[in-house]
Amino acid sequence: MKAIRTAVVLLTVESATALAAIDRKSTVQRFNPHRISSSNSTPLQVGNGNFAFGADITGLQTFLPYNSLSTWCWHNSSLPTTPNQTEPSDFTGLDWWTHGRLVNYDQPNPAENDISNWLVENPQRVNLGRVGLYFGSSNVTEADVQSTEQTLDMYSGEISSSFLWCGESVQVTTVGDPSSSTIAVEVESTHFTNGTLGIFFDYPYMTGLNKFEAPFVGVWNATANHTTELVRQGSQQARIQHNEDATTYFTTVHWEDANAIISGPEPGTHQYLLKPQGSSKLAFSVSYHSHLSPDAAPFYSPDGEGTRISTDVLGIKAASTQYWCDFWKNGAFVDLTASDNTSATELQRRIIQSQYILAVNEAGFDPPQESGLTNNGWYGKFHAEQFLWHLGHWGRWGRWNLVGRSMPGVYERFLPTSIERAQLQGYSGARWGKESDPTGRSAPGEINSLLIWQQPHPMQFAEYEYRSFPTSATLAKWDNILLETAEFMASFAFWNDTTGVYDLGPPMYPMSENTDPNATINPTFELAYWKMGLTVAAEWQKRQGKVVPSSWLHVAENLAPLPVADDSYVIYEGIPNMWHNTTFDEDHPSMLGIYGWLPPQPDQFNLTLMQNTVQKVYDTWNLTYSYGWDLPLLAMNAARLGDVERAIEFLLDPTFQFDDAGYQVGGARVPTPYMPGATSLLWAVAMMAGGWDGSEGLHFPEDWVVEAEGFTPAL
Ligand SMILES: *[C@@H]1O[C@H](CO)[C@@H](O)[C@H](O)[C@H]1NC(C)=O
Ligand SMILES: *[C@@H]1O[C@H](CO)[C@@H](O)[C@H](O)[C@H]1NC(C)=O
Ligand SMILES: *[C@@H]1O[C@H](CO)[C@@H](O)[C@H](O)[C@H]1NC(C)=O
Ligand SMILES: *[C@@H]1O[C@H](CO)[C@@H](O)[C@H](O)[C@H]1NC(C)=O
Ligand SMILES: *[C@@H]1O[C@H](CO)[C@@H](O)[C@H](O)[C@H]1NC(C)=O
Ligand SMILES: *[C@@H]1O[C@H](CO)[C@@H](O)[C@H](O)[C@H]1NC(C)=O
Ligand SMILES: *[C@@H]1O[C@H](CO)[C@@H](O)[C@H](O)[C@H]1NC(C)=O
Ligand SMILES: *[C@@H]1O[C@H](CO)[C@@H](O)[C@H](O)[C@H]1NC(C)=O
Ligand SMILES: *[C@@H]1O[C@H](CO)[C@@H](O)[C@H](O)[C@H]1NC(C)=O
Ligand SMILES: *[C@@H]1O[C@H](CO)[C@@H](O)[C@H](O)[C@H]1NC(C)=O
Ligand SMILES: *[C@@H]1O[C@H](CO)[C@@H](O)[C@H](O)[C@H]1NC(C)=O
Ligand SMILES: *[C@@H]1O[C@H](CO)[C@@H](O)[C@H](O)[C@H]1NC(C)=O
Repeated sequence: MKAIRTAVVLLTVESATALAAIDRKSTVQRFNPHRISSSNSTPLQVGNGNFAFGADITGLQTFLPYNSLSTWCWHNSSLPTTPNQTEPSDFTGLDWWTHGRLVNYDQPNPAENDISNWLVENPQRVNLGRVGLYFGSSNVTEADVQSTEQTLDMYSGEISSSFLWCGESVQVTTVGDPSSSTIAVEVESTHFTNGTLGIFFDYPYMTGLNKFEAPFVGVWNATANHTTELVRQGSQQARIQHNEDATTYFTTVHWEDANAIISGPEPGTHQYLLKPQGSSKLAFSVSYHSHLSPDAAPFYSPDGEGTRISTDVLGIKAASTQYWCDFWKNGAFVDLTASDNTSATELQRRIIQSQYILAVNEAGFDPPQESGLTNNGWYGKFHAEQFLWHLGHWGRWGRWNLVGRSMPGVYERFLPTSIERAQLQGYSGARWGKESDPTGRSAPGEINSLLIWQQPHPMQFAEYEYRSFPTSATLAKWDNILLETAEFMASFAFWNDTTGVYDLGPPMYPMSENTDPNATINPTFELAYWKMGLTVAAEWQKRQGKVVPSSWLHVAENLAPLPVADDSYVIYEGIPNMWHNTTFDEDHPSMLGIYGWLPPQPDQFNLTLMQNTVQKVYDTWNLTYSYGWDLPLLAMNAARLGDVERAIEFLLDPTFQFDDAGYQVGGARVPTPYMPGATSLLWAVAMMAGGWDGSEGLHFPEDWVVEAEGFTPAL
């Protein structure tokens, strides 16, 4: 059969919509997740990027306490009472020798254990509550119900669930509001008519006990440590206030059956109960919000998310349908389904399901955490070195509105503390932190304080945005951020009088985080990324007719050469025995990132050395111990080298799994779901669909039938 291969490569996003030729709706709905029992690791979810609700097989949180997480609600445990460690300002960190001077880093100081730990563990992201079906006095489990069926329609954002209990059916539909932390639910069952069935609401307590809380977040039996109260009770609306130490937020429950009644809490619990009287239908909405007054400041919420309340069930349903329809109609799209090849079908499934999951979990006003809004990792904090993985793919798929929710806003918000961090360490510009909470504070940690590959991310965000929107508005938007970022990069590079080049580190951790920080100097990936970042920053100045600071150019042109051993690139300069030591073959294969994810940097990159390096990685790397974005990173490298068959193999590698609903399985080293696994897959697919400068267009296996629209070439 003759393959059809069309690529509509466009420079602007708007025109993509007009040209949409692919039947997107049926391609999306073909992969709607369908379940007949709850997963024990992932829920099905509704939500909007700032809020997500995780459902079990009932469409609610009846049998399993899956989470309702948001970008805006956080909690602090009480501060330690240890003398001299009672305030965050009592934390002083550690001084390490850095090119002949002592520099202070936010690292856990053994003399300050309690306040160090508090700063790591706080604040935690709050699981807002639980909403489930109440079966009267019977203690019903999933094993007690029959004929369970559940489908998530990704084109309308609606979960339809049904089952039989005592021979009668229970049907539930669940949707999320696109613009508030609200679900709207319709339940239909004859069990309602005699008062058997109801809806319960419950609340957990947040602690700093666990770094990872998956799949369930919070403690349910510490009922004495927090309080709830029914603060308002009207005819069709009630409000529950939840106080956890200094954190207070509200649940507004609205129902459409005038005869339904809410009651609670049951003594010794935080459980409330909503029961209809006589009707077999109950439609209700559950809105979580931070304050009673819409004018009051939320905990952290630059766009007012967390203050809004929605109640109208039908209105929320309509808004959800409209939102998801728009989501799928806009942006880029690739259709592999005509290929008649199981690999193509599986890749298509991952592409579609990932986009739904990421829009629910990873499109808020703050960058996401590892597991998005599904569960908590690292206490719910977000990691600056992952900003680009989490969010950059949205831009590659033409969904700039989703990038724009947090970018560059989060950098603007963190700029003052990042400038302060650089100044305290004797550098100029802004040094971006790592494991961040919404205030921009970076949690103490040796790796946290010494990682540097988050630093050039703003340049990549900005350059891709300029590629899609080459306007003075784009230039102005990122100007100050790029300037302060580049200033730090130039001042961080250390002029080595002996060698006559600029060194990066020591001390530092490279992307792979597995080397001695006091010995790590001139890592391959970071050298290439420094060159790219400074080059973009310089170009940004030129585009605005401004003078480029000479220090930026001097550093970019005189960085240490990429380190080589055994005629191949190595992790860092002078690494002992890299290709013959298993210590170094099992983390991110960072060297390959400089030709694939990043474009090759002129006057620095050598293709022969790259080919040698790739061969050594293929021969020696312990891929079974790889995770997350490693495989997509390898796929992008293979694609750029012209080996698309291998790129596809990497994206479908047995160590790189997506579960039945499309959640990327984290494995031994990271939680499930691990969102950067999904985001990097989409980045790789965008590169294969749009090509890159000098090799634009489709890069898929020869006999696949591929249609793509709306992609721009990668850098
Ligand atoms: C938690 O405590 C930190 C440090 O005092 C503070 O900056 C932050 O606003 C607090 N967050 C919440 C949600 O209370
Ligand atoms: C607390 O700090 C004060 C003043 O720096 C010092 O004199 C005292 O020994 C410290 N106490 C403890 C328990 O470390
Ligand atoms: C690195 O050097 C500092 C002194 O500058 C020392 O305190 C620290 O323990 C060293 N770290 C490692 C991992 O060797
Ligand atoms: C309900 O059933 C579960 C599972 O069998 C059991 O663990 C739990 O103790 C029971 N609860 C009550 C209140 O009977
Ligand atoms: C309520 O009605 C349902 C279905 O009509 C029936 O199965 C159930 O046993 C009844 N429960 C009570 C407590 O009467
Ligand atoms: C709550 O449950 C945990 C885990 O099962 C247990 O260790 C703890 O003692 C319980 N706490 C209370 C207050 O019952
Ligand atoms: C609840 O409060 C008690 C008393 O302050 C404390 O001992 C306990 O650790 C708290 N429980 C949790 C889960 O934080
Ligand atoms: C200059 O570079 C050489 C080779 O990388 C290194 O051994 C030396 O320590 C550097 N000098 C300084 C002052 O860092
Ligand atoms: C491998 O590298 C580690 C870290 O540098 C070192 O401790 C170990 O001795 C090396 N092993 C071999 C066999 O070279
Ligand atoms: C690239 O590396 C190869 C292998 O080391 C070397 O032979 C060649 O001269 C290098 N090319 C350039 C332009 O430096
Ligand atoms: C790969 O790494 C894992 C974890 O360190 C280890 O258990 C396994 O033996 C390694 N496999 C090979 C082939 O070295
Ligand atoms: C499906 O496509 C992959 C990638 O090109 C190829 O390796 C495989 O052989 C194809 N399968 C079939 C059954 O054609």
